[in-house]
Amino acid sequence: MSDVFAVELKNQLPDFLFNKFMLFVGKKKEERILKFRRREDAERSLIGDVLIRSIICHQFQKRNCDIAFEYNSYGKPSLKDLDHIHFNLSHSGVWVACAIDSSPIGVDVENMRTIDYSIAERFFSPTEYNDIMEKEGRERFEYFYDLWTLKESYIKARGKGLSIPLSSFSIRKNHSEITISSNREETWYFMQYNIDPEYKFSVCAQNSHFPQNLTIMHPLELGDRIPG
Ligand SMILES: CC(C)(COP(=O)(O)OP(=O)(O)OC[C@H]1O[C@@H](n2cnc3c(N)ncnc32)[C@H](O)[C@@H]1OP(=O)(O)O)[C@@H](O)C(=O)NCCC(=O)NCCS
Repeated sequence: MSDVFAVELKNQLPDFLFNKFMLFVGKKKEERILKFRRREDAERSLIGDVLIRSIICHQFQKRNCDIAFEYNSYGKPSLKDLDHIHFNLSHSGVWVACAIDSSPIGVDVENMRTIDYSIAERFFSPTEYNDIMEKEGRERFEYFYDLWTLKESYIKARGKGLSIPLSSFSIRKNHSEITISSNREETWYFMQYNIDPEYKFSVCAQNSHFPQNLTIMHPLELGDRIPG
């Protein structure tokens, strides 16, 4: 079964915690984090890294110094020498999310902001665009973000970024039943979590067993789970 975690960053991280967490991450990540101009972007990226480290340390009894990341040619991170563990991260607004499984998995969280539906006409499949436009008002708005995050979670599970055209597959959501049609053989499953009315939160996995609820963690808890 997969596991799904989220951390809410309501306020700026206190400096002592930011500095403590910076000691957990690798040199390259540290350099990347220091390049962010906005503190909140640096924090989200830092928390993502520390979140997956805390999960690996806690669930697999690893030491932080034994955790290293490698990246595929599209930038998807994976765990070096732990290729039986798959994970993915996402951050948007105040939320940082992490999904972990024994087979490929993708997660996407998005803060729902006013949008122009021509984006869906331009980038989504015709079926998806029609499904969106059949709805009205708030329902249409939410459905757009359902599809956006579901599509993004699928792309992230496959790990090939936007080299997979968004219109090359179609996702439909009928109540809680979510299906994908594409010309590929593998079967993918989807799950969504309602943790915040201003956000959509979607997970895509090859494994059909999702937890009913995700685990929300406080930033302070993360460091406690990372021994030396
Ligand atoms: C990079 C991409 C994988 C996700 O980008 P995103 O939605 O902006 O960002 P998210 O917060 O969800 O995910 C970022 C994390 O995904 C991971 N990631 C990076 N490249 C990845 C890839 N190819 N596949 C899966 N995960 C990836 C990293 O952990 C990254 O965290 P970091 O930036 O702190 O290192 C890519 O799909 C992209 O650029 N998407 C653009 C979004 C878009 O236009 N969507 C259209 C609507 S469907």
